[in-house]
Amino acid sequence: MKIQSAKSNSTAAVTAIILNKEQASDPKGLSKEEAKYLSAQVGAGKDVVSFQELGHHRKFYVIDSREQEADILELWRGHGKDLQSLAVSIGSDKLHIINESGNTAATLAFTEGAALANYQFLKYFKDKKEKKNSLDKIFVQDAKLDDSALLELNNLVQATLLARDLVNEPVSYLTAEQFSKEMQKAGKQYGFSVKVLHKKEIETLGMGGLLGVNKGSIDPPTFNIMEYKPKNAKNKRPIVLVGKGVVFDTGGLSLKPTPGSMDEMKCDMAGGAAVVGAISAIAANKLPVHVVGLVPATDNRPGMNAICPQDILTMFDGTTVEVLNTDAEGRLILADALGYAKKYDPLLVVDLATLTGAAMRAVGSYASAIMGTADQEVMNKLAQSGFKMWERTVQFPLWKEYGNEMKSDIADLKNLGGANAGHISAGKFLEHFTAYPWIHIDIAGPAYSNAGQSYRTKGGSGVGVRLLYDFIKENYTR
Ligand code: BES
Ligand code: MN
Ligand code: ZN
Repeated sequence: MKIQSAKSNSTAAVTAIILNKEQASDPKGLSKEEAKYLSAQVGAGKDVVSFQELGHHRKFYVIDSREQEADILELWRGHGKDLQSLAVSIGSDKLHIINESGNTAATLAFTEGAALANYQFLKYFKDKKEKKNSLDKIFVQDAKLDDSALLELNNLVQATLLARDLVNEPVSYLTAEQFSKEMQKAGKQYGFSVKVLHKKEIETLGMGGLLGVNKGSIDPPTFNIMEYKPKNAKNKRPIVLVGKGVVFDTGGLSLKPTPGSMDEMKCDMAGGAAVVGAISAIAANKLPVHVVGLVPATDNRPGMNAICPQDILTMFDGTTVEVLNTDAEGRLILADALGYAKKYDPLLVVDLATLTGAAMRAVGSYASAIMGTADQEVMNKLAQSGFKMWERTVQFPLWKEYGNEMKSDIADLKNLGGANAGHISAGKFLEHFTAYPWIHIDIAGPAYSNAGQSYRTKGGSGVGVRLLYDFIKENYTR
């Protein structure tokens, strides 16, 4: 799928024309009858009017040009999805979007919705060609939009779809080492460096959390360091993005009681995928910002040498942790990565993780749970990007009482809290390993969906990529 600009009408079978209210009530360039019909429909309160002729669909969309609110943008992404469905249903290979309204934000959202909706994960079908959507080009005609804005959107969409691909890959392909190779591919393609630490080096560093979780596995772990550091970076100290990279979570010896709980756990590296996607988008668009990505990767399995409840692990920073439930593995590998992040003297660390079922129960699939020690102003900026990109967030507190649950009788911490608010006690556990402004994003709810919703296709959603991209672009590149 490619998004590109068009100077004049193409031969697309599906054309969208975006008009403002005035233009729609007195339309130009149409036959008398067409103009009359359109203005009558709009006068009756319709904001989408379809013209269907032999082999050609035209859809007129009416926008109030004052509207740019987040929910309006989301409405336009939904319109984009509808148009994509129409193009695919009639076997068209291109869409033509003409914006005459002057509202470029709506036009970009519209294009984004169509492009994201057209995603498919077909790798494992024998007859991929037959299953492939006909649509593969979107032409955008808008006097106010230059090529660079469309290129930026195209890169952001590609990076989001890369994250979806990674999440959709099962562990039969995407082991920790393969995940590292995919990061290296992305680094080459988009222009950032990737350093992969293998088991020996992880042992030398003493990353006891990552090694502990990996003990029940046959496949070795990796610790991945991505870096994008352009000469014109506006920040002196880097922003570090940390992503949970559990390529499959069986729960380990505290085995998940399938059905229903283990079935979707290939998604447990979605935080890592979001970090890869966000850095890819930032590098592809050459944002002037220094970012580092850290992804500890392993599967979590109940092999013969797996960690047992009551085992004690020593983390990278020396903290000891009593493991009471081997299914609370995400926080163990993140502890090492958060400890490692200190060496960058970071401006801000943001971690993304499919960390707890509790986060999903608290907010469903419509939002991520966030908490952190960054200034409230910074937390608010993230929430703002969440609304704009429709990757919404809900903030939870890190009150000290929640941390009391994480104290152990025999070690510095235990990895299991009480029965309630498990996403917050997990956050308190992570906080212990931070010593810099930090935001934790628990994406367990929105990371993966068996149903799909609008332009968020079934399977991995790519959540986090667009959120981080907008947050970093808006707040750290000036
Ligand atoms: N990967 C899971 C969390 C999860 C649940 C992600 C549902 C996506 C959808 C995590 O490793 C886990 O198992 N968490 C446990 C922690 C508990 C044992 C303290 C949970 O939330 O039940
Ligand atoms: Mn788990
Ligand atoms: Zn997990």
